[in-house]
Amino acid sequence: MANTHDMGFLQHLVVCPVCKAKLDFSPDLIKCTLCNLQFHQSQKDCFDLLPCHLPENNGGLWEKRQQEMEDWYRNLIVNPTNAYHCFVNDYTPYAPLLATLSGLILDLGGGNGIVRHFLPNNVQYIIIDPSLDWLRIEWLSIADRFPCLKTKPYFVRGVGEYLPFPAHSFDVVLSFWSLNHANHPERVFREVYQVLRSGGRFFVILEDMEPRWVDIIKPTFLGKGVSYAVSIFTQKLRHAISKEKWPLQNDHISIQESDIQKWISQGFEVVKRAWIGQYLTFEFLRV
Ligand SMILES: C[S@@+](CC[C@H](N)C(=O)[O-])C[C@H]1O[C@@H](n2cnc3c(N)ncnc32)[C@H](O)[C@@H]1O
Ligand SMILES: [Zn+2]
Repeated sequence: MANTHDMGFLQHLVVCPVCKAKLDFSPDLIKCTLCNLQFHQSQKDCFDLLPCHLPENNGGLWEKRQQEMEDWYRNLIVNPTNAYHCFVNDYTPYAPLLATLSGLILDLGGGNGIVRHFLPNNVQYIIIDPSLDWLRIEWLSIADRFPCLKTKPYFVRGVGEYLPFPAHSFDVVLSFWSLNHANHPERVFREVYQVLRSGGRFFVILEDMEPRWVDIIKPTFLGKGVSYAVSIFTQKLRHAISKEKWPLQNDHISIQESDIQKWISQGFEVVKRAWIGQYLTFEFLRV
């Protein structure tokens, strides 16, 4: 069995995801002391602060996309060796960056918390994610290769659009392959701005992004072989001529770089923009 943290630390930190007031805790229910929102608790190893009543989360497209994503990961973990290689491939390019992080870290859409494998031991780490699948026992099948999975992380069930944390709480927020799964990414940026301390860092890995023309001649693309760079070039050319949409995975929402520019204009500076593997990756500084 995975060890579970004492939840006291988390209980003292979380607030109402909607009005940000204090919460009242009883064993099966968490209640907001101001707006009276109620959150029924079904498990002991996380706090469920998913604001289900909000229209954004009611039925519809997000739940369908979420189901597809959950099915994909359920299939992945059926073969632990494949799952191991998948995580290693995705995370290894980020290992040098992750090793430099410190303080209190929020992993937004953080999944099973495998990123802890690459973080320094002395960080404090919290996940917010709407899917309870990540707490399933199946993830222990790769715990011999990722020992961090033997300890359950502090896990809050919730969404990035309604972060249940007080202002200026975090030194770092990570959104690794999760922003394209959200419903209202611009709201996620607003909420992250609130919970980050001034000078805090926000790392975002995006999917299905269209590279700029100049990106294609940079080492990230050329380094993968000329034929890969040519295939991206051709795809971009076709896209420019036909105006057809850039390919988008079924469980993703489309995000344009111009959107990102708008969303950060209120309070973030771009520290780094890089293609790492096939992913466009940003580091933002919260001013
Ligand atoms: C592709 S997974 C990535 C998981 C993890 N970051 C990793 O690297 O393995 C996308 C995650 O985003 C989560 N997600 C979906 N909608 C979200 C939202 N509105 N806010 C935060 N996370 C969300 C999903 O539940 C899922 O865990
Ligand atoms: Zn409230």
